[in-house]
Amino acid sequence: MPRLRKRNRDRKHFPALPSAPAALPAPRWADGLSDVSIAGDPMAFPHLARTDLPAHPTTVGGYARLVREIAADRARWEPLVRYDALTRWYARLETGPGYEVWLLSWLPGQSSGFHDHGRSSGVMTVLAGELTERSLTAGGEGSRPLGPGGLRVFSTGHLHEMVNASLEPAVSLHLYTPGLVEMNQYPTTAADPAGAPADPAAANPGRHWAH
Ligand SMILES: [Fe+2]
Repeated sequence: MPRLRKRNRDRKHFPALPSAPAALPAPRWADGLSDVSIAGDPMAFPHLARTDLPAHPTTVGGYARLVREIAADRARWEPLVRYDALTRWYARLETGPGYEVWLLSWLPGQSSGFHDHGRSSGVMTVLAGELTERSLTAGGEGSRPLGPGGLRVFSTGHLHEMVNASLEPAVSLHLYTPGLVEMNQYPTTAADPAGAPADPAAANPGRHWAH
């Protein structure tokens, strides 16, 4: 019994547990945590604030500017030009978040056939030679040449055909956003109900992306 009395006497010296406040302040974040609270503010550490990352375009104006910049950098695209008697030649120049840029080489007479671009919009220009765009709109069929320096912007649903109707090879640059994953082919003329494209590349562009 004396031993039990000693234990009870020692317990009197333990500090009392603090009682919980009546109402805790609401946390700033749902779970009480955030990237900043866990890792610290990266802007507070200059060596963590990356400044060497490329700035990717996100607007039509930005995409057009990127196309012009690549077009002006001849050393970048010229080594990828390649003419093939059987098909237009494709080379992917650049990819970024939500877009990709392709270089196409065209011999005289090569054509895309009438097509749309699925869910993609885009910007294109001609780097060498001349292409002719035939488009179908609510106002009817139109045709216009596109030469070096000319810029063409198209949105989802645009239906057109690009053809090298000249006697010289041509090179063009095409930016698609989002990246082109679908091209629907349409009959070139009423006499072509099967919709056979003039260029077999247009029927299966994915096949050429593997080149
Ligand atoms: Fe197109």
